[in-house]
Amino acid sequence: MLRLAILISGRGSNMIKLAEAIDQSHLNAQIAVVISNQHCAGITHAAALGLPTKIIEKQNFATRHAHDAAIEQAINAAAADFVFLAGYMAILGAEFTTVLAGRLINIHPSLLPEFKGLDTHQRAIDAHATRHGATVHLVTAALDDGPIILQAELSVSPHDNADKLAARVLQLEHQLYPFVLKSLCDGQLTLAADKVTWRRQELPTQTVPPSAAAAFAEAVRWPDAAKP
Ligand code: GRF
Repeated sequence: MLRLAILISGRGSNMIKLAEAIDQSHLNAQIAVVISNQHCAGITHAAALGLPTKIIEKQNFATRHAHDAAIEQAINAAAADFVFLAGYMAILGAEFTTVLAGRLINIHPSLLPEFKGLDTHQRAIDAHATRHGATVHLVTAALDDGPIILQAELSVSPHDNADKLAARVLQLEHQLYPFVLKSLCDGQLTLAADKVTWRRQELPTQTVPPSAAAAFAEAVRWPDAAKP
């Protein structure tokens, strides 16, 4: 049974999708703790789902390092195997990312390496990008820069504005993150400090949930090693 810690800061919709996937797809995983760095809708929702929660606010710590250390302690106390960042809006220090190397995963709303950082949807529109999407990646000390685990992409329409595009990308995220979790549970995906391995022969594309946004199955951009 994989034990997860999920770190959030806001609405928590990706956290909810991970929880739903565990329940509905009977994944061999358990959310051991949901941690947020501030009071937010997501942590209220997690508590309502009966998940263990912890709010660890930065303002109660003298330094970022001390704040990170408190979060690390909560992760260890929960005996988490993996940490999923799901809209966690604070930069984690290098000591934290090093200690959790290979076990710390993030979802970012762009096709990395494009549009690292914030405001990705508006930036994609401003850059006249024709493709946009979401990336799940290993977290390293450099912002939005770790090895890519999986991406999902869509076409940018001339009718998109940042809000519309964000909503469409979020639908992809809600398929992508649970799929990555399922793949970890199945043993189809293994992660090491700086390495992502997909067991290519054994990964049928139809393991993408059928409820996926219409174009998702085709839009999944497998890392080369993961091509079915
Ligand atoms: C998502 O777009 C995620 O990619 C980004 O922050 C947003 C979080 O949304 N890192 P939610 O809190 O999961 O609804």
